[in-house]
Amino acid sequence: MFKLMATKPMSKLMNEAANEEGGLKRALGPLNLITLGIGAIIGAGIFVLTGQAAAKHAGPAVMLSFIVAGITCAFAGLCYAEFASLIPIAGSAYTYGYATLGEFVAWIIGWDLVLEYAFGAATVASGWSGYFVGLLQDFHIHLPPQLTTTPGMILYNYHDRWMQLAAVPAGVDVSTLPHVAGVFNLVAFLAIAIVTAVLVRGIQESANLNTAIVIVKLGIVGVFLALGGWFLVHHPEHAHANWTPFIPPSDGHGNFGIAGISAGAASIFFAYIGFDAVSTAAQEAKNPQRDMPIGILGSLVVCTILYIAVSGVLTGLVNYKALNVADPVAVGIDVTGVRWGSIMVKIGAVFGLGTVMLVMLLGQSRVFFSMSRDGLLWKWAGVIHPKFRTPWISNIVVGAIVAFMPAVLPIDKLSELVNMGTLLAFAIVCAGVWILRRRSPELHRPFRTPLVPLVPILGILSALYLIWTLPTLTKVVVVGWLLIGLVIYFTYSVKHSKVQIDLRAEEVVK
Ligand code: ALA
Repeated sequence: MFKLMATKPMSKLMNEAANEEGGLKRALGPLNLITLGIGAIIGAGIFVLTGQAAAKHAGPAVMLSFIVAGITCAFAGLCYAEFASLIPIAGSAYTYGYATLGEFVAWIIGWDLVLEYAFGAATVASGWSGYFVGLLQDFHIHLPPQLTTTPGMILYNYHDRWMQLAAVPAGVDVSTLPHVAGVFNLVAFLAIAIVTAVLVRGIQESANLNTAIVIVKLGIVGVFLALGGWFLVHHPEHAHANWTPFIPPSDGHGNFGIAGISAGAASIFFAYIGFDAVSTAAQEAKNPQRDMPIGILGSLVVCTILYIAVSGVLTGLVNYKALNVADPVAVGIDVTGVRWGSIMVKIGAVFGLGTVMLVMLLGQSRVFFSMSRDGLLWKWAGVIHPKFRTPWISNIVVGAIVAFMPAVLPIDKLSELVNMGTLLAFAIVCAGVWILRRRSPELHRPFRTPLVPLVPILGILSALYLIWTLPTLTKVVVVGWLLIGLVIYFTYSVKHSKVQIDLRAEEVVK
């Protein structure tokens, strides 16, 4: 027999943590942790999806969508903070689940996190390719356009640049322009292949490198806000025209109007993903009990403020209908007429999005590694390369599968899957905090989520609400994904789970 609710003892977790990787160095303070979070958060969401959310769902009211998604994340962030300070070891939601809610829930979270990390990396690769190709075109380097976008996407050649329909200036008769249909996004494919190679070779995650990239990212966001804000202040009529109406009337299909604000929130939720990645550095924090909550919530607050400001300025600069393009922030800065601004944004995005892919694929390999080590996934997923000391087989298998996703699936479809997977993980973490408060009220919690059970309940409800507003196809795919997970769990994991094996051994002794 097996026990679905079997938990992994805290003492065991702590032991494993102490023995892993020769004991990680506790070097990160609160500021490093906030920077780590910002490094993982700012990526394709703000650089690409904001434009699509404004164009397709919310119009200028995408600013309100950012507030709604930010509030949902705040509830989840408070719950993550309680767990991260209670169980300050690497592994994030999967580990919390295993220690508190039992193996079955942990499995679901672990399997679900694949949607967040692996599909997340694919989404960012798609965004990365948009900025990279745009940058090459600035230097008159033209790749075959068919290999720079997903199958069927039409690209038009206007003024010696290949672009999507939305980027062609209004009034131009596109039927007169040369055009091609996309075949395979080789650029995004290669991006994942290169990041995978880096991960196999072993990346010494240097806090300094991360800090440098974060400064670059914050720098571009700052330049965008300064140039864009300056332009809008001097051209208030331009801003007024683009912001009116602020909430465009509903199209009757859940887009625009009030419903469009929620649909926009569900689609740009992606932009906030990554604050939970701070919890994976718990073993490297100097004072995790105090600093984990600061890192998680601090990075979330900084990004929320920046996102609201960026979306406001962007929709002021460019009419929302023209924002459904691969590089909306660069398009926005073009309006200001500052030419170096656009090139700078693209260079910054290329580096900035690169690190997000790295963090996501790294997170993915850590989750698979932990699951394999616990006996819940096949042994090969936990095999460590003798020389590079990385879970190389897991990295290569994941990389090979992930690389195809952005090559054939458009970024909005990918990000919707990621959003649903992550929202589900958030809802489970919120539920976990509440359940554990009732089940083990005596545990020492250095950070306590305020107003339990209200905050966890609001976290669950807001996550479920955003899931509800996602397209039906996305829900069907995620349910299919979870069903595949259940088949693996019941055919493989329950037989090989180390916790279950220990339990069976204890029963025999009794
Ligand atoms: N929040 C991250 C991004 O927007 C995942 O790329």
